[in-house]
Amino acid sequence: MGKYYLDMEEYKRLARQAAAEGCVLLKNENNTLPVREGETVSVFGRIQFTYYKSGTGSGGLVNTRYVTGILDALRAEGSIRVNEELAGVYEAWCAEHPFDKGKGWGQEPWSQEEMPLDDKTAARAAQVSDAALVIIGRTAGEDQDTKAEPGSYLLTDKEKAMIRTVSRHFARTAVLLNVGNIIDMKWVEDCAPSAVLYVWQGGMEGGNGAADVLTGRVSPCGKLSDTIAASIEDYPSAAGFGDPYENIYAEDIYVGYRYFETAARDKVLYPFGFGLSYTEFAVTTEGFREEGEDILLQVRVKNTGDLAGKEVVQVYANPPQGRLGKPLRSLAAFRKTEVLQPDGEEILSFRISKKELASYDDSGVTGHKSCYVLEEGSYGLYVGTDVRSASFAGAFVQETLTVTERLEEALAPVTPFCRMKPVGEGDSFCMQEEAAPLRSVDLAQRILGNRPASPVCTGDRGILLGDVYDGRADMEDFLAQLTDEDLACIVRGEGMCSPKVTPGTAGAFGGVTDRLQHFGIPAGCCADGPSGIRMDCGTHAFSLPNGTSLACTFHEELVEKLFEKEGLELRRNRVDLLLGPGMNIHRNPLNGRNFEYFSEDPYLTGKMAAAQLKGMGKAGTSGTIKHFAGNNQEYSRNLANAVISERALREIYLKGFEIAVKEGKALSAMSTYGPVNGLWTAGSYDLLTTILRKEWGFDGLVMTDWWAKMNEEGEEGDTRNTAAMVRAQNDLYMVVSDAQANTGEDNTMEGLADGRTTRGELLRSARNICRVLMRLPVMDRFLDRISEEELREQREGAGEDARFLDLVYQEVGRDTALDISSLSTEKGASAVLGVKLLHKGVYAMQVTARCSAGELAQVPMSVFMNHGVVITFTMNGTDGEWVTRSADLGEFRFPHQYMKFYFGQSGLELGEIRMILKEEF
Ligand code: BGC
Repeated sequence: MGKYYLDMEEYKRLARQAAAEGCVLLKNENNTLPVREGETVSVFGRIQFTYYKSGTGSGGLVNTRYVTGILDALRAEGSIRVNEELAGVYEAWCAEHPFDKGKGWGQEPWSQEEMPLDDKTAARAAQVSDAALVIIGRTAGEDQDTKAEPGSYLLTDKEKAMIRTVSRHFARTAVLLNVGNIIDMKWVEDCAPSAVLYVWQGGMEGGNGAADVLTGRVSPCGKLSDTIAASIEDYPSAAGFGDPYENIYAEDIYVGYRYFETAARDKVLYPFGFGLSYTEFAVTTEGFREEGEDILLQVRVKNTGDLAGKEVVQVYANPPQGRLGKPLRSLAAFRKTEVLQPDGEEILSFRISKKELASYDDSGVTGHKSCYVLEEGSYGLYVGTDVRSASFAGAFVQETLTVTERLEEALAPVTPFCRMKPVGEGDSFCMQEEAAPLRSVDLAQRILGNRPASPVCTGDRGILLGDVYDGRADMEDFLAQLTDEDLACIVRGEGMCSPKVTPGTAGAFGGVTDRLQHFGIPAGCCADGPSGIRMDCGTHAFSLPNGTSLACTFHEELVEKLFEKEGLELRRNRVDLLLGPGMNIHRNPLNGRNFEYFSEDPYLTGKMAAAQLKGMGKAGTSGTIKHFAGNNQEYSRNLANAVISERALREIYLKGFEIAVKEGKALSAMSTYGPVNGLWTAGSYDLLTTILRKEWGFDGLVMTDWWAKMNEEGEEGDTRNTAAMVRAQNDLYMVVSDAQANTGEDNTMEGLADGRTTRGELLRSARNICRVLMRLPVMDRFLDRISEEELREQREGAGEDARFLDLVYQEVGRDTALDISSLSTEKGASAVLGVKLLHKGVYAMQVTARCSAGELAQVPMSVFMNHGVVITFTMNGTDGEWVTRSADLGEFRFPHQYMKFYFGQSGLELGEIRMILKEEF
């Protein structure tokens, strides 16, 4: 086996373990769970047949070979039985009430109509089974937020009635939440099920992971990565959330538990970090001492119950209020034990750097504006298994204020607003308001003052990027050969589905024109997304547990191992960069993309992202940390201005990214669709240059989100303003369909002419891009240096998907006959053709075929575009006569598309297949 061999069985095992370890048990009365050997379970809820492996949109579109849902996994269990009579009732109802997929991008409803459950059905089920499982499902995704309405954040009346009815008939009713992110939980009290388990969206092995927990093979050991408050209005971000134009982050750094534990403890139903086990643990701090600038803690965890299990120890800091004001708890460290047998114990050691507990002074109130400071006073550390119950473990005293890091004001807001500040003492605080400090630096001057030099173009001196790679040439000499026009092309990424890279992926970057390739610059490939590789042509890939589920494992090592496999899978598919991890903060539970992201806490978020990057890095591939930053609302995402204080940015919204850069060594970042403090992030110099590169030392590339906007201060965002983008050091505009032809009509060349951007700035981006390319597998692929062994393993691993690896594209004009010589029309045969549409518009397909059989013979041919069936031509026998049929294929806005043909019966003879443009856009 080669160095990059991907062991699929191990991959499945790790994903299953992660799905199991992410499950969070919130309630378990009457020993409801686990289901015991020999028992029969009744499964309620329509979602038993349509397990949500992930949410929708780019964070969910993975073509899997299979998805094991909870019911599938339970049916495969040898030692328990499923009440099949009840399953039959649901199956029949679902056949009459098919799953509503919605139409178009992001249009799948967040929930499905539930089957009304009558007492008779529940009573009958209770007679023949020992316990009930009720599955509730929710999806979510891009472009829409969750709503505080039934069927979205709230349960519907039918769902609540179902839980009530089942709970009346069964002493043991466990509600399983197959959801992407936390939902309202008030119903637990009203409907009174005896157990509640969040199983999240666990990817294609999710059902198996859930079954491991349900049967007790794995004792639940997941912990909430968010606080569940009594009501959605209780979240401190509730007031402005959902505004289409402006979102004021008035809660400042008091996000999630930082707010609730400081000033609204009674609003919490389930605290951050909470999750039950089937066993019990005693957690005691045995050592607390200072060693220089660090605090060392030793915590003994003993399994005092009757079953084996793991526990997560969490350490929270309680700093002095000082002049800045601080949350009463902030997560400072966490670790998970190994499996502990009854009476087994483990000592976990923690080393916490005091520096990590510092706060950012954005106003100068401490006398140290733009610095991280440890204000004087006592810093308490609390240890436990959730934020609320963590108990005092020790404190260190900071005698005098210490500056731990001196920075410069960056990305401060320009819109006046008031932010929260706690006032009080002990553990009784309330929130008051203070004016957030506004920007005081001249951004334009800062940019001008730091402009890089602009060396002139030397013309082609025959230096290739490979020469730089091999150490024979200097990067600067290499770059100097590129003309301004070449540089304008290199900052354009191509996609979706660029033919220069793996079919069906989101984008190509680097060598996107012939000239750039002539200089030996390869085209790197990037593909969505956080839950696995998305290849829209239909290539299969592994679907992983979602971000929230992974965060709830609180298990960095496991996530790293899982993402090492993901990294190998990327490599196998010739994808260099994953467009993930998604790591925005769960500021409000209603954000439609929370399922892709990890947590309300930046430390947990950063650690999870770093673990993923380290894992992928072991395979030579990497991820793209996204969306940088402040992408906390889907509605109006390319317009709504996020108004955030510099302190909240640095301590909350940027902190996870900082950890991912410093610990995870991120190579690539994606900016967002929208503006933060008045600047669309893809053109935000302070975000992408001052903070990301100068302060954190990031030396990778930054790409825009797909078709994002940029602006000049005070102006509206515009997808064409790449002059502002390059100036800010957002290196790649994603995406255009043809970089050479400048199909995005960007203004890079005009910007160069009028001085809005410079050759030096373009060279800087070209350098960032080339440096990253040299650190990814594409460089060796381009230079033909991939070992025979790896190539063989790639082909073997791809199986039937190998046909996608080297797909060629046929050009299609207004009326074009396709080359169909590669199609076999034998029963069960299928073939994929790549097409390049020369015009945007509505196309139809015209098929001329014949079949020698008689009229009653059915010979269906299905056409799939980009993996979805669009037409089935059912040709009846034609007695050997040629017939022509037409059907609409739909609208196409991008040139590269995939078409798959499937033949249901033998006997069709194809004369011609034409694609005809019916309406041009
Ligand atoms: C999403 C990104 C994604 C990109 C490419 C955008 O709609 O916001 O997260 O990576 O599309 O598919």
